[in-house]
Amino acid sequence: MKKIAILTGGGDCPGLNGAIKWVTKTALDPLLAKDRSVQFEVLGIRDGWKGLVEVDPDDPKSREEHLKPLDEERVRTWDRYGGTNLGTSRTNPFNLKNERSARLLENIEKLGIDVIVAIGGEDTLGVAYKLHRLGIRTVGIPKTIDGDLVGTDYSLGFDSAVNIIMEEIDRLRTTAGSHNRIFVVETMGRHAGWLALEGGECSGAYIILIPEYPFEMDRLCELLLERKGREIQYSIVVVSEGARLGGKKEFCKDEKLDDFGHRSLGGIAAYISGEIQEKTGFDSRYVILSHLQRGGTPSARDRLMARRFGIAAVDMIINEDFGRMVSYVHGEISSVPLKEVLNNLKLVDVDKYYDIERYNGKRTIL
Ligand code: F6P
Repeated sequence: MKKIAILTGGGDCPGLNGAIKWVTKTALDPLLAKDRSVQFEVLGIRDGWKGLVEVDPDDPKSREEHLKPLDEERVRTWDRYGGTNLGTSRTNPFNLKNERSARLLENIEKLGIDVIVAIGGEDTLGVAYKLHRLGIRTVGIPKTIDGDLVGTDYSLGFDSAVNIIMEEIDRLRTTAGSHNRIFVVETMGRHAGWLALEGGECSGAYIILIPEYPFEMDRLCELLLERKGREIQYSIVVVSEGARLGGKKEFCKDEKLDDFGHRSLGGIAAYISGEIQEKTGFDSRYVILSHLQRGGTPSARDRLMARRFGIAAVDMIINEDFGRMVSYVHGEISSVPLKEVLNNLKLVDVDKYYDIERYNGKRTIL
């Protein structure tokens, strides 16, 4: 009997519960078990790495607080729901200011964990990679609404988030049209513009601002003014939270750093909206979509990918492909070494995808 521990780390999003369900179902599948030389049990860890660091394996109350044994019955309906039923955190056990890796290793041993499946983005997978280097068997599943993980063409949560952006912009259009207003819509995405770009493209936004191409306020206003007097009396401007003016830094909510050293971005939409009003005379409002983009139920694509990623993670355990992340490349599920996924972000290739004149998606593809 081998024990698989599973956890979700970083920002939550739709698709996590599906991945947990399919790791559990596949690992415990009685038909598959007949042909396997090993049997599995699955242990859910609550609140990401935090749960594994803080649990006291000798104390039953603490085990109950931090651990959640999983079986097929328990996870049966999970793929329909957003968020993560295991909870999540941004705890970094290797943060030098609060080193808790020794405790983490001790707990893994005491709990008799044979393999850890970590579902997360670069930060969560970075911890999985460090553990792998210390001799712990780990497998990663990619998750991030930002779409910036390298080594995979898809990460869980992205499609649901793009759908939410599109739906919210559809809603804003009717009120923007009635009032002849500009609406500036701020998306998440950190330093990558994928959410703003794809969300803006599929909703037909007039202007899209991404971190990869610093913009000029004068050019933005010029583009808006080109529409003055035309039949269209409103415009949607989508701006990524990490976008910035030429020569300037990103807008941050505050000075605080999280456990992995990230600052909380946001606030640029309010600035842009104010400037538009002042410089063009257009009436302008802004909306920060914020955590709405991580809420609600998973899209069809996220449910499907969660299922496939979960199944692939168990295949990797059976094949002893440790220290790797499940990936999706050129339409096929495969895997990549965790090492190749870290310390690098997949950013929008401006030459390929962005029109620097129009501040929008490119109108040539081939
Ligand atoms: O990485 C996912 C993400 O949603 C980013 O797009 C965003 O900047 C950040 O997380 C927000 O984090 P929090 O949930 O801690 O506010």
